[in-house]
Amino acid sequence: MNWTSAMVSPAAPRRFLEPFHGKALMPPPVWLMRQAGRYLPEYRAVRAKAGSFLDLCYNPALAAEVTLQPVRRYGFDAAILFSDILVVPDALGQRVQFAEGEGPRLDPLRSQRDLARLNEDATRPKFALVHETVSRLRQELPHDTALIGFCGAPWTVATYMVGGQGSSDQSDARQWAYSDPEGFQRLIDILVDVSIEYLSGQVKAGADALQIFDSWAGSLPDDQFRRWVVAPTKRLVAALKAEHPRVPVIGFPRGAGVLAPAYAMETGVDGVSCDTAMPLAFISSQLSGKTVVQGNLDPLLLVTGGHALERRVAEIKAALAGNPFIFNLGHGIVPETPPENVGRLVDLVRGSHR
Ligand code: CP3
Repeated sequence: MNWTSAMVSPAAPRRFLEPFHGKALMPPPVWLMRQAGRYLPEYRAVRAKAGSFLDLCYNPALAAEVTLQPVRRYGFDAAILFSDILVVPDALGQRVQFAEGEGPRLDPLRSQRDLARLNEDATRPKFALVHETVSRLRQELPHDTALIGFCGAPWTVATYMVGGQGSSDQSDARQWAYSDPEGFQRLIDILVDVSIEYLSGQVKAGADALQIFDSWAGSLPDDQFRRWVVAPTKRLVAALKAEHPRVPVIGFPRGAGVLAPAYAMETGVDGVSCDTAMPLAFISSQLSGKTVVQGNLDPLLLVTGGHALERRVAEIKAALAGNPFIFNLGHGIVPETPPENVGRLVDLVRGSHR
């Protein structure tokens, strides 16, 4: 991208936003989940001087810098705020730590009594730091690059708060939800309330669009999916729409499978980010044209590259062209990804070959 000319053309439209106005762009806008992160040497350098991972999330100058790094390298159509979904439990007063190479660790909440450890009024100073990162970014980004704010969906954030760490089956949260649905509902309600404030603040600070990451949406049977994924997301989206009717909201209900169309229709989101396992024929017949579709290249193809990458990018473009579509991965970039493969992907999406 020509960074300088982008900055001096204030009238340039943000291409990323056009699918939300019904436009089917070819080539599609492109950004990637976890586009900032450990696969980039310049990220690792900033990360090393920031202290802990959460220190980086709460440092507006450094968080803005790592957000900008992949945009400078690859000229993505959108930047995503650098932060984490676990900033919300941390701001609520739950102890959150990121142990090197081990993922997050939290002091788990196991019952309604433990909710007394959370303080909704304590979130403001920490949220303010993230909101400051957003304002800096809106000033520093090229005018035609959109800025995406985000949070974790209440269900997914709750799985970490209850389990105390990542797990393959989210069993602690699922068991609490079955054994004491009223108590678990209180936790979900707290998360909806603070997420409204957190995301609304991101929009006021300059975010052009929002994404709600529901990474563990796929672990629930359909009745539980409607109660803990669809219903809280619907309340969150409705509150955001009441305040910011023109700001698009994208949902990422990872693993939702055949429930994804119901999620798209019932939550009020403007777009659905499709995970790696969702078949292109299903996306194209059940979601395309009804909502903005985002997705869904396997992040491992970015590790291996080569012809397999080329072939799949072409298949995704062919299947999803003709309706409003944003190119992305089906989950985040993994740390082993060679940075040059990301550049190659952007060229393939945009149709230029090198
Ligand atoms: O570039 C971007 O996408 C923006 C930044 C971003 C991060 N995390 C940075 C991060 C975003 C949008 C997230 C979302 C997130 N965080 C999700 C939802 C998406 C998904 O991946 O399913 C989840 C479940 C989390 C929780 C989380 N954060 C875990 C489980 C881990 C550990 C796993 C890992 O990759 O280390 C994190 C840490 C984390 N969040 C890192 C980054 C760049 C790596 C930590 C480091 O740099 O030390």
